[in-house]
Amino acid sequence: MIELRNVSKTYPNGTKGLDGINLKIEKGEFVAIVGLSGAGKSTLLRSMNRLHDITEGDILIDGNSITQAAGKELRTIRRDIGMIFQSFNLVKRSSVLRNVLAGRVGYHSTLRTLFGAFPNEDVELAFQALDRVNIVEKAYARADELSGGQQQRVAIARVLAQEAKIVLADEPVASLDPLTTKQVMDDLKRINQELDITTIVNLHFIDLAREYATRIIGLRAGQVVFDGPVSEATDERFAEIYGRPIDQDELLEARLADIAAAKEPVR
Ligand SMILES: Nc1ncnc2c1ncn2[C@@H]1O[C@H](COP(=O)(O)OP(=O)(O)OP(=O)(O)O)[C@@H](O)[C@H]1O
Ligand SMILES: [Mg+2]
Repeated sequence: MIELRNVSKTYPNGTKGLDGINLKIEKGEFVAIVGLSGAGKSTLLRSMNRLHDITEGDILIDGNSITQAAGKELRTIRRDIGMIFQSFNLVKRSSVLRNVLAGRVGYHSTLRTLFGAFPNEDVELAFQALDRVNIVEKAYARADELSGGQQQRVAIARVLAQEAKIVLADEPVASLDPLTTKQVMDDLKRINQELDITTIVNLHFIDLAREYATRIIGLRAGQVVFDGPVSEATDERFAEIYGRPIDQDELLEARLADIAAAKEPVR
C-alpha cells in the first residue's frame, strides 16, 4: 500500500536526509520508526505525504505515485493520509469541534470551508471521531484549554474525521508525560486495529516502539539499518543500530521508575 523505491532526499544545503530507501508497508500495519536524532525519521514521514519533495526515487501510495502527482491528483492522494505532530498543530483559539472539522477541508471547495459551512454529515463524523477518542464532552471547549494529551486526541480525531487510510505520526508523544503517553498510544493502536488504518509512528522510546508496533524500522544516516518484527528488535540489535549501548532516556520504563521513586526524571 505504501512503497518507497530507491528514495533519496538531499536538502538544498547538501545534507543527505534519506539515502536509497526501499520499503513496502502493507495496509493495516503498525510500524515504529526509530533512530537517533538526525537519522532521517522526520524526513521519511514528511516525504511520504510530500510535505518534502524527494530528490531521487519514487513513493507510491496504493499504486499511485505521490512523487509525480500534481494538482487535484495530489490532493486526492493526500486526503487519505493524516498527519500527527509532536506539537499537535491545532488552531489554539478555535473550538475542538472546528479543529476536528478541519479534517474535512480536503473534501470541499476552499470557499465553503473558509466560511466554516460544513454539511451536517461532517459534523456528525466529527462527533463520532471525538467519541472514538473519548473527548466528546470537550467539543465546544477552546483547543488551548485542553491538556496536552487531550490536544493530541483532538489531532487523532481530526485524522479520523478526514477518513484517512494512513496515519503518519512524528513523535506524537514526545511532549507528553509517561501516563498520557500510554493513553495516546492506546488510541493510535485502537484506531489501527478497529479501522485498519495503516499507522507509521516515529518514536524516541524503544520500549514503547516494542510495545505498540508490529514492525520496527531502524534508520541511521538516512538508511534503513533494521527492518523486522518486534521480537527481533532486542536491546542488543538497537545497540548495533545506534552504534552504542541503549541509554536510560531511550526507555519509557526507566522514566516511569524515576517518577515512582519521586526523583527528577532523566533528560
Ligand atoms: N530543512 C533542512 N535543511 C537541511 N538539513 C536538514 C533539514 N531538515 C533536516 N535536515 C537534516 O537531515 C537529517 C535528517 O533529519 P531529520 O529531521 O529527518 O532527523 P530525525 O531522525 O527526525 O531527528 P530527530 O530525532 O532529532 O527528530 C539531519 O542531518 C538533519 O540535520
Ligand atoms: Mg524528527
